[in-house]
Amino acid sequence: MLGEWAEQRPCAFTLGPTISLGDRFSSRQVRLRERIEFSVEIKGSVALVTGANRGLGQAIARTLLERGAARVYGAARRVDTITDADVVPIELDVTDPTQVQRVAQQCGDVTLLVNNAGVITAEPLMSMPDLDSARAVMETNCWSMLTMCRAFAPTLAAGGGGAIVNILSVASWVGVPDSGPYSMAKAAAWALTNCVRIELSSQGTLVVGVHSGYIDTDMVADFSGPKTSPDDVASQIAEGVEAGSLEVLTDEAAHQVKAALSLDPGLLYARIQDSWDRTHGS
Ligand SMILES: NC(=O)c1ccc[n+]([C@@H]2O[C@H](COP(=O)([O-])OP(=O)(O)OC[C@H]3O[C@@H](n4cnc5c(N)ncnc54)[C@H](OP(=O)(O)O)[C@@H]3O)[C@@H](O)[C@H]2O)c1
Repeated sequence: MLGEWAEQRPCAFTLGPTISLGDRFSSRQVRLRERIEFSVEIKGSVALVTGANRGLGQAIARTLLERGAARVYGAARRVDTITDADVVPIELDVTDPTQVQRVAQQCGDVTLLVNNAGVITAEPLMSMPDLDSARAVMETNCWSMLTMCRAFAPTLAAGGGGAIVNILSVASWVGVPDSGPYSMAKAAAWALTNCVRIELSSQGTLVVGVHSGYIDTDMVADFSGPKTSPDDVASQIAEGVEAGSLEVLTDEAAHQVKAALSLDPGLLYARIQDSWDRTHGS
């Protein structure tokens, strides 16, 4: 069924029967992969980072400057919250398409776009009162990412290709029921990242998806377990861009979740279900 669907659509990338775990990749598959891989040097690049005023975005902006970026635009809802004097402040609420268009015109020299801005809510899908805040989470984490990609694609093409870095999560791969809307949004953002990568390959744009477990920022201040430092994540992102990586997995959690994706959902979700039952009652 999937095979028939794909054959009728020449653009479709068929996983089909040709790829299975443990297979060696054919030389044709390797050639196809090379078509979507381009590396970008940080030194001399012109970057725009959304949500650059705090947390991971602030660390990414600083890291890019330290690695020789010629200019880093730090986009934030309130420009006065950009405190790093070397970062060029740009006012941007990523959920406002008019502002996105204005910033794309204003920053016509960008060669590296980092879609970092994000929000989370602690809401299970079934018990939240309505869909309003879930829609807002989707708007910021998913639709705005797409709006930014679309607005900046011509700029990146004009500059020779460049790169887009989309900050995703392990929640792109595994549903976290206490933050259901966030998981939905990050899963959708992962899908859009993979589609945008294919669409922009002809203009030479590297599209990188970044998947992390917990990072030590305000977003997860209440979580007391192990977290990766934003600086560490930012360094891995910079290295990934320079290496032409399509995905950057920044911690053990990301590696483990990705490796477990082929499991039956009953097994993959056994511990999450157990934890849910203990905290919410079964
Ligand atoms: N922390 C983690 O454990 C973790 C793990 C995996 C992935 N991530 C992802 O990493 C990214 C950065 O998050 P963080 O951990 O640094 O969280 P954070 O400290 O809460 O920072 C979130 C940033 O996003 C900005 N933002 C939110 N909505 C915005 C909007 N509409 N327009 C412009 N900027 C907006 C915030 O700006 P304001 O200051 O104006 O609110 C802030 O700069 C997010 O995409 C998040 O989902 C985080």
